Amino acid sequence: MKIVHTVAELRAQLARYHHPAFVATMGNLHEGHLALIAQAKPLGDVTVASIFVNRLQFLPHEDFDTYPRTWESDCEKLQTAGCDVLFAPSEQEIYPEPQTFKVQPPTALADILEGQFRPGFFVGVCTVVLKLLACVQPHVALFGKKDYQQLLIIERMVRQFNLPVRIVAAETTRAPDGLALSSRNGYLSESQRTEAVQLSLALKTMAAALRAGACDITALEHQARQALAARGWQPDYLTIRRQADLQAPTAEAAVGEPLVLLGAARIGRTRLIDNLEI
Ligand code: PAF
Repeated sequence: MKIVHTVAELRAQLARYHHPAFVATMGNLHEGHLALIAQAKPLGDVTVASIFVNRLQFLPHEDFDTYPRTWESDCEKLQTAGCDVLFAPSEQEIYPEPQTFKVQPPTALADILEGQFRPGFFVGVCTVVLKLLACVQPHVALFGKKDYQQLLIIERMVRQFNLPVRIVAAETTRAPDGLALSSRNGYLSESQRTEAVQLSLALKTMAAALRAGACDITALEHQARQALAARGWQPDYLTIRRQADLQAPTAEAAVGEPLVLLGAARIGRTRLIDNLEI
C-alpha cells in the first residue's frame, strides 16, 4: 500500500488509473471500514482510502481533540484489507487557508436529526467530502448506511452538483450481538458495551410494532424514548421517517412507503447512533 500525504503525491499515484474506488474515513478503523474497502475493491481499478479527522464537522464541545488516532494499526488494517493507496493529509494540506467557501446543505435535510443536535455538522461533512472527492476524483465512492443521514445528504450533494462519481451505499456492519460498529464504541466501558445493543433493540421493537399494525407514530416514538431513558440512556431522538427525505411519514404513507427508524442516544458520555430500514 502506498501512503501519500499531499494532493500532488496522490494525483501522481493515481495518474495511471481510470476508475479509483474510494472510501473516506476519519481513521480508528474497524471491521465496518474494512468491509467498505472489501466492497470497493471490485468496483475500481485502484482502491483508495483517506484518513482525515475533519475539524470542521466537530462542535467546539465535541471530541475532536480526543477522537482516537490509531495510525499504526489503521495502516496495518488497510494494508491487510487490500487498500492500494492511503491518502492521509495534514490539516494544512486540506485547509491551507481558512475554508470560507462551504457547502450549505438544505435545512430540510441537514438541520433535522443529527443536524438538530450537532448544528453545522453536515456543513463540515459536505465541505470535506466535496474536497476529498475533488482530490481523489474517484469513479465510485462508498459510504456506510450506519450514518444514514450523512449518506443521503452526500447522495443529494453529488446529484445536485453533477459530481462525476457514483455513490454506493454499504450495509452497516454489526457486532455479533447486533451493535452497529462505530469508532465511538471504543469509549464504552464493559457494562456500557453490554448495554449498548439496546439502541438497536429499541429500533427493532418499533419496527415490530409497525409491522403489527401500530400507526400512532408519535406514541411509538415516545414509548421507545421512555424505554431507553428508563435504562439510564439519554435519548436525543428515536424516530420513524421516510427513507426518501427523512421527513415524518403521514399516517397513510406509513403503510406503503419505505421507512427508516433512526435513533441517537447517549450512554454515559458516549453518543451512539443507529438506524433500521423497513
Ligand atoms: O463518516 C465519516 O467518517 C466522516 O463523516 C467522513 C465521511 C469521512 C467525512 O469526514
